Amino acid sequence: MTGDLEPAVSVAGARRALATAFREAGLDTPELDARLLVGHALGLDRAALTAQSDRTIRGEEAERIRTFAARRIGREPVARIVGTKEFWSLPFVIAPAVLVPRPETETLVEAALGVVDAKRRQRLRIADLGTGSGALLLALLHELEGADGVGTDVSPAALGVARENCERLGLARRATFVACDFGAALGGGFDLVVSNPPYVVQRELLRLDPEVRNYDPKLALDGGVDGLAAYRRIAADARRLTARGAHIIVELGAGMADPVAAVFAAAGLAIRAVRPDLNGVPRALILRQAP
Ligand SMILES: C[S@@+](CC[C@H](N)C(=O)[O-])C[C@H]1O[C@@H](n2cnc3c(N)ncnc32)[C@H](O)[C@@H]1O
Repeated sequence: MTGDLEPAVSVAGARRALATAFREAGLDTPELDARLLVGHALGLDRAALTAQSDRTIRGEEAERIRTFAARRIGREPVARIVGTKEFWSLPFVIAPAVLVPRPETETLVEAALGVVDAKRRQRLRIADLGTGSGALLLALLHELEGADGVGTDVSPAALGVARENCERLGLARRATFVACDFGAALGGGFDLVVSNPPYVVQRELLRLDPEVRNYDPKLALDGGVDGLAAYRRIAADARRLTARGAHIIVELGAGMADPVAAVFAAAGLAIRAVRPDLNGVPRALILRQAP
């Protein structure tokens, strides 16, 4: 089965056909993927898909659905097919140069809002090192109306996507984007530094799911021989970048809490807490510049 459609199939029938094809292809979330791709092909949201479930699909619509189904069966992620991904309930444009933002990265947003809680209305300066689509920085600026911030990345194409997302979310007056090696080109005085750096151990790269291995940029994944290369670079700059009492929050790969904490402790940062994601995996390491 390749996601082919019978003639004069209905909207609901197309969803069923795709879900069956996706299940047979071993995809994790066949019904969800089918709904999102049929909805994207028809330009319909979830409610409209249900309202129009008996409507017959037109020829050119069926062609679009077939094309999207074939791409998904080829293990292209839904977010890359539809070109957007929701993060922190905000829509982010996705392009080949950026990682698709992951739900577990929202743990860092929650952790950051927790540490700055008392200061939500104060003027805060935030740095997001390795900003990609801009997901972390822009989610934080959306929540913290008194904050401004800078996102860095070595990929100019990724920075272009981050700038586009920034404009679309109406945050352009409070964010800037800089091409540099993590925090290397930034001055000091940040109240909050966040980063979801590349942290996949090099020898694991080929074992990642095809959706990740073949579609996320290697630059966004490759953490060097032990997965810690980016953390070492960030830790080396952390004290210079931060104001007294400031927080640094970094995302952790599964099983990396202890080695990453050791890297930052050696650089003179105090370990404050580790927050788990919704699956219970330690995901956000909260560090503090000693007051
Ligand atoms: C795991 S992705 C995270 C993207 C985004 N912050 C997110 O959470 O969805 C890591 C990002 O770091 C960037 N990156 C890799 N090496 C870098 C470096 N030396 N300096 C700055 N950014 C870098 C990659 O281009 C990528 O956008």
